[in-house]
Amino acid sequence: MDTIVPLNIDGVRKALSGGIVGSAVHYHALLPSTMDEARRLALDGAPDGTVVIAEEQTKGRGRFSRVWVSPPGLNLALSVLLRPEIPQLPYINMAAALAVCDVVHELTDLSASIKWPNDVRIGGRKLSGILVETDMVGRQLNHAVVGIGMNVNLDPSQHPEIAEIATSILAESGREANRSEALRLLLGHLDRYHAEIRGGASLREPWAAKLETLSMTIQVRWGDDVIEGTGESVDEQGNLMVRKADGSSVTVVAGEVTLQV
Ligand code: BTN
Repeated sequence: MDTIVPLNIDGVRKALSGGIVGSAVHYHALLPSTMDEARRLALDGAPDGTVVIAEEQTKGRGRFSRVWVSPPGLNLALSVLLRPEIPQLPYINMAAALAVCDVVHELTDLSASIKWPNDVRIGGRKLSGILVETDMVGRQLNHAVVGIGMNVNLDPSQHPEIAEIATSILAESGREANRSEALRLLLGHLDRYHAEIRGGASLREPWAAKLETLSMTIQVRWGDDVIEGTGESVDEQGNLMVRKADGSSVTVVAGEVTLQV
């Protein structure tokens, strides 16, 4: 049986005081999607670093408009409003994935990896997904919302639709984790990476070091287009260079990667 312990949001707020990420934390028992609420707050003038977290989402979404499955009260489902400069934008996705990897390591001592561009995985199973949505007006970036779904105390075997593809902190460590602690750690790491980005740092290297997609034979699908080859490197924008069998190189800016084993 899944055990539900509510988040201690006041404790998280207190522990975070001082940083940009988490300068405001909006907590909801139920929302359609934290992405939409964060966007609404952004358009209302909410400050950089505002966090929206929900115990349950009725319309949680992932990339390619997929449904994000996360049973109430077991995991973390949150969105963070950021107002980066355009050159910093590619690092936002990297920051979120790296922050999740750091939390996983702190809570389990395990090393998670990243399937390009943004799935955090252990043993080939997905522990976390990241979704970045931006609001551009012409060439001006108004804001970005980074959504993070992180499986904490999910028992994947109880949820047939994701049982074969998902994992969680619980499934990997055999122990339930304190979700409030996981949230505090996650926002703390995200704030640290965000400060690095604002200071002009690139996150390409630490992110690339975590990518399981490099040196692997992969297939990248984008709509009806399929590219096969070896994941070779990533550039500063986070684009993936794929070396095809004929020796040519293709730069992939978006798509769904399958690792060939
Ligand atoms: C993906 O793997 O495709 C990205 C999944 C992102 C899910 C999170 S859960 C919190 C936030 N709200 C949403 O509706 N989606 C993101």
